[in-house]
Formats: sequence, structure tokens, C-alpha cells
Amino acid sequence: MSIVIARSLTKYYNSLKAVDNISFEINEGECFGFLGPNGAGKTTAMSIIYCFMPPTSGTVSVFGMDVTERPSEIKSRIGVMPQDDNLDVELSVFENLIVYARYFDIPKKRASQVAWRLLEFVELKDKAGVNIRNLSGGMKRKLILARSLLNDPELLILDEPTTGLDPHSRHSVWDKLNYLKSMNTTIILTTHYMEEAERLCDRVAIMNSGKIVAIDTPARLMDTHKAGNLEEVYLRLTGRRLAD
Ligand SMILES: Nc1ncnc2c1ncn2[C@@H]1O[C@H](COP(=O)(O)OP(=O)(O)O)[C@@H](O)[C@H]1O
Ligand SMILES: [Mg+2]
Repeated sequence: MSIVIARSLTKYYNSLKAVDNISFEINEGECFGFLGPNGAGKTTAMSIIYCFMPPTSGTVSVFGMDVTERPSEIKSRIGVMPQDDNLDVELSVFENLIVYARYFDIPKKRASQVAWRLLEFVELKDKAGVNIRNLSGGMKRKLILARSLLNDPELLILDEPTTGLDPHSRHSVWDKLNYLKSMNTTIILTTHYMEEAERLCDRVAIMNSGKIVAIDTPARLMDTHKAGNLEEVYLRLTGRRLAD
């Protein structure tokens, strides 16, 4: 079953075409990756899926509902990890979760229980009372991951979940995402780490200048392009091939 269906999706920012007539479907339980250089349109495409802004033309449906018609219902069933950290720096780790839980109308007592469970899941329980300013980059990413799970989402949208993390924190995030996959959560992510895409993604869409230039499983892409790894395929398709 398709959780997300995009047809001829196009997005302009004034005269700049950020997403150029792309179509794709994302299946239930799948981990789907958007790959591509900076400015390719990945964040724009994802923000339309999570109902942050409407498409200029084309259609996107999530759980069978149009993003422009039923954004509240869609949002209540998805979790989002934006590209930039947007935690409330005035609050503690725990308070950030509690305040966010209000958006989903989760009752206070239940919010507290869920917050503790999620802090345990991302290994931040001992940081519950700490101010956001005193967290490392990796801890902030893990807290945002925990925050994205407050409403027990069926679909998770993660924009560069591991950018800037040290290898240990990256592996830790991979473990969490693999666990969520095993629980049948559908995941859409972007990453600049091809190893991450190969490890986590069932299928990837490689984007360049707003267009999808290839969409398939990492294995089939490597096979089609006779490449030893996904990075080679990526460099070839995005025209950023290293000198031979
Ligand atoms: N809010 C915005 N207003 C104007 N232009 C934007 C905005 N957000 C992104 N862009 C432009 O749209 C293009 C695609 O950006 P983005 O979707 O962020 O790409 P990616 O996530 O792949 O790096 C880029 O040229 C970027 O500069
Ligand atoms: Mg981006």
C-alpha cells in the first residue's frame, strides 16, 4: 500500500523552480531516501509531504488524503525531524518534549510517561533536566528524534538526521531507525552519507536541480550503473563525478 503518492509535484519560490515535476510513491513500512546535492529540492519536497507548505502544482496525498485538503489529520499521524535544530533553548530537555506534546493534545500525565519512555529510547534520560544549550550536537539530534515520536507516528520524515554527528552518535541513530523500521514505521529521510542510505534505505530517489534522476533500490542502481557502491552512482547521476 502506498503511504505517499506524489504526482507531477512542482514547487516554485517566486521564479525559482525548486521542485520540477516529480512523481513517486512510498510504500507502507518502507525506508525511502532522497539523495542529492545541496539545493536539489529535497527539503522542499519533504516539507510539502509534511504539509508545511502547499505545492505550486501537482498533487501529493499522504494516507490517502490530499495535503492541501486535510493537513491537520495528516500531521497528527506523522513525525518530523527538520533539517535545522529548532528546540526551545529556554527549556530543558524534558520540557521540550512536554511542550511539544501539547500540539498533539496529549494529556499531561500521559505526555510525561511518553516523554520518559522516549528519553530512555534515545539514551537521554540522564539529561532530562539539562538546558538545551548544554547539549552536544548529537544529543540535540537524538532529542529531536524523540520529539518526532511523541504522537507515535505511522510515518517519520527525517531531514538529514545524522548530519554533523560523530560516528558513534550516527551508529546510535541508525540503531534507533532500524528498530522503528522493524516496528513497521514508514520512514522518509534525506542524507549526504551514501553509506547511511545503503544501510537504511529500501529505495532511494536521486535528485538534481529539482528533478528525480533515478529511483530504485540501492542494489539495482549499483547494478544498472555497474558501480561498486552508491556513491559512484550518485556522483555520476548528479554530474559531480570526480576526475577519472
Ligand atoms: N524558503 C525559500 N525561499 C526561497 N528559495 C528557497 C527556499 N527554500 C529553498 N529555496 C531554494 O530552493 C532550492 C531547493 O532548496 P532545498 O529544497 O532546500 O534543497 P535541498 O534540501 O536539496 O538542499 C534551492 O535553490 C534553495 O535555495
Ligand atoms: Mg535540505
